[in-house]
Amino acid sequence: MSAVPDRRAAVIAGLGCHLPPDVVTNDDLTRRLDTSDEWIRTRTGIATRHVVAPGVATSDLAVEAGRRALDSAGGGADAVVLATTTPDRPCPATAPDVAARLGLGQVAAFDVSAVCSGFLYGLATAAGLIASGTAGRVLLIAADAFTTIVDPADRGTAVIFADGAGAVVLRAGDPAEPGAVGRVVLGSDGALSGLIEVPAGGSRQRSSRTAAAPGEEFFRMAGREVYRQAVGHMVASSRLAAEAAGWNGPGDADRFAAHQANARILGTAAGELGIPPERRLSNIEHVGNTGAASLPVLLAQAAAEGTLAAGHLLLLTAFGGGLSWGATALVWPDVKPC
Ligand code: ACO
Repeated sequence: MSAVPDRRAAVIAGLGCHLPPDVVTNDDLTRRLDTSDEWIRTRTGIATRHVVAPGVATSDLAVEAGRRALDSAGGGADAVVLATTTPDRPCPATAPDVAARLGLGQVAAFDVSAVCSGFLYGLATAAGLIASGTAGRVLLIAADAFTTIVDPADRGTAVIFADGAGAVVLRAGDPAEPGAVGRVVLGSDGALSGLIEVPAGGSRQRSSRTAAAPGEEFFRMAGREVYRQAVGHMVASSRLAAEAAGWNGPGDADRFAAHQANARILGTAAGELGIPPERRLSNIEHVGNTGAASLPVLLAQAAAEGTLAAGHLLLLTAFGGGLSWGATALVWPDVKPC
């Protein structure tokens, strides 16, 4: 019988992602917005992005990514955590529907709402489920159909956001194993919640059928101020995560994976952390900002391409609405994404 570790760590055992097939180019956007391919490329780093077809919902993306992660892990899960900004409907959570469609039966299933930081909040939640013995294997999916809440007439957001889903399977294991999730540094600043918001559709201001101002159900972002906040919090949380992992500092990272919000933000944050360009993972050029899905899609694509390999010291960080942020540092395991 193998020795039982003092602490049950959550270990990454499977990985997958799914992007909807429809692609929107910058030139497509210039046909309906006062913008240009040049502005979008130089200010955001984005050239194309994947978007859902009408009628496709977050759960549809989540089921595809979840199935791939389960195949990659070669087994099931006894809990499903779905990080999303765009649940299929306000009530109930979308995770139980996803679990049922994946054939996982009557397992624990719930949503985590932390906007673009959702994957890291979900990782901490999944690790807690495993550490407490509540679950043995957790399917963590991060999925967003972000274009369903973006105002198509708002050039400040419509050029950035896109749709997709990524997932990991976490199993119980030893804290010293590659793939073990250690401390996840998390933070929030609700005093600045208005910088990134969908004003209506909740209990404060109901849907536009009853709200005073139609259009309040669209997503809004104070881009310039959010940019400033994003760099500061991703840098500070990355430093804490590197320290918690026992590294000399963030510069030890073989690979740096940050929420793909904007290529300039990523460049600035990585520069401040002392991480050279060849160690920065990025897919923003052809994926855009997929909200909560951003990090696991990036990891799945990088692992498939081989730019992220077993044994790499990986630093992960994200920032989003809430405001919310997080970071964690781990040794990348030998997993094959599906
Ligand atoms: N095309 C052309 N011009 C534009 C566009 C566009 N698509 N969007 C804005 N502009 C204009 C503005 O109107 C402004 O014009 P003005 O100078 O005449 O007033 C000018 O460009 C500069 O505007 P800024 O908002 O200062 O542009 P900036 O360089 O900051 O880029 C952007 C805007 C891309 C939104 C950037 O601020 C950004 O990426 N912010 C952070 C995004 C982020 O990290 N979000 C958090 C995670 S996402 C989440 O949680 C949901």
